[in-house]
Amino acid sequence: MVIRLDRAAPLQPQLYDQLKASILTGATAPGTRLPSSRALADQFAISRNTVLIAYEQLLAEGYLETRPGAGTFVGTALPAGAEALPGDAAAGSIPHPPPRLSRYSERLRGLDIDSLTRGGGLRYSFHYGTVSAADFPADTWRRLLLREIRRRAGKPYLYENPQGLPELRAALSDYLSRARGVRARPEQILIVNGSQQAVDLALRVLVDPGDAVVVEDPGYSGARLACEAIGARLLRVPVDAEGMDTGRLPPPEAGARLAFVTPGHQFPTGGVMPVSRRLALLDWAGRGGTVVFEDDYDSEYRYEGRPVESLQALDRSGLVIYSGTVSKVLSPGLRLGYMVLPPDLVGPFLHAKQLTDRHTASLDQAVFAHFIRDGHFERHIRRTRRRNQRRRDVLVAALQAAFGPAVEIQGAKAGMHVVVRFRDIPSALASSVAEAAALRSVGIVPAEMAGERAEGRAGFLMGYAALEDADIRQGVALLHEAVQSFRRGGEG
Ligand SMILES: Cc1ncc(COP(=O)(O)O)c(C=O)c1O
Repeated sequence: MVIRLDRAAPLQPQLYDQLKASILTGATAPGTRLPSSRALADQFAISRNTVLIAYEQLLAEGYLETRPGAGTFVGTALPAGAEALPGDAAAGSIPHPPPRLSRYSERLRGLDIDSLTRGGGLRYSFHYGTVSAADFPADTWRRLLLREIRRRAGKPYLYENPQGLPELRAALSDYLSRARGVRARPEQILIVNGSQQAVDLALRVLVDPGDAVVVEDPGYSGARLACEAIGARLLRVPVDAEGMDTGRLPPPEAGARLAFVTPGHQFPTGGVMPVSRRLALLDWAGRGGTVVFEDDYDSEYRYEGRPVESLQALDRSGLVIYSGTVSKVLSPGLRLGYMVLPPDLVGPFLHAKQLTDRHTASLDQAVFAHFIRDGHFERHIRRTRRRNQRRRDVLVAALQAAFGPAVEIQGAKAGMHVVVRFRDIPSALASSVAEAAALRSVGIVPAEMAGERAEGRAGFLMGYAALEDADIRQGVALLHEAVQSFRRGGEG
């Protein structure tokens, strides 16, 4: 056994590591008797305690065994002459069959999942998922958070109700009925980690591989990718200025299990679905027994008139799942969302949620409950709605001043982004324009990255919720420069 100790470094871990390595590589064979702790300590002029601690650790881990009266031996249950250390094996030095990936992982490999998080980070980022830190009600949130931590002091920490804190579900039940016309008893509400988890749970509970699922075309890639990942068959329904074109839904016999829609503010194109289409959608769902997933991700922000009522408010057959999130109105980082489920579906969703993560983190749930109960939430929404409306006005005015009739602006009535379409740039060139803009620190997302097909005129999503007025103006001026240089055929 060759042991070399570096006296400048702690001795006990070195001794432990080298003894272990000698055993694992087979240099010291199973059954070999080790020197007594005193003899080893004398040999290296180290303290006996150092040796005893290393021996004890190796005994506890099964590398060594003691035989009463005979001493300490290398464990005989170890395979003789293991050829490499576990560390080497991790580096791939021992050949082995690769881990077999599930079909789910195989499908993931073929999907551009990272497109969900791409973007942002530039000085003038019009990335649509970002919201302003200055808009976050930090003082109130901090005060409520501290109050909640104090309230919990001295009580045992438990797993909480997997459906979500009762006080949050009660507060949401009132809020959703007031603000969105949603009919939701607290027992129908499930608190989730953002709407992405709501999408995932809906697919687990309702869809098997090969089943048909309706999605909007173009539509939210977070839902579409999740459908593809579980092996669903996509039935794409085109959208126009009024959201999903319900006249082009597949026949009820197509047997769609689920339909993802954004009736409040179609993502990405921005249309608001009128009541005639809403009723047609519900009628279609009733005929085919299709569950409709209403993704109401940002319709708190409607700038002309009151927010339109939810689709769920019109549902008489119990086929609508309503999904909401705080990602747009507070922060995407909170990972807080809520589902309102038809009563029959509560049980299966609750079980699926428990096996996924037991429940959503309870501290932020409690803070959010107080935030709603004390009236802060609706005040916050009124305030941020005014701010976002002003940002939208600034953006639209700047775009019109810079580009005039060369652009068409869509979806400006609600939400936190618009679609800007260039009449003279084909969509095949949209990524090159985005690259030219990025060179000037301007972040815009080509509409096809948000699920639109690359045909027709180039469109870009421009979110405005994270930028202050001056940055919006400057960002548009730089975008104008980028487009001009792109049109001239050069770049830089
Ligand atoms: C259509 C749509 N739904 C939902 C979300 C929010 O997802 P989450 O609640 O998981 O943050 C987004 C975010 O960009 C979105 O665009």
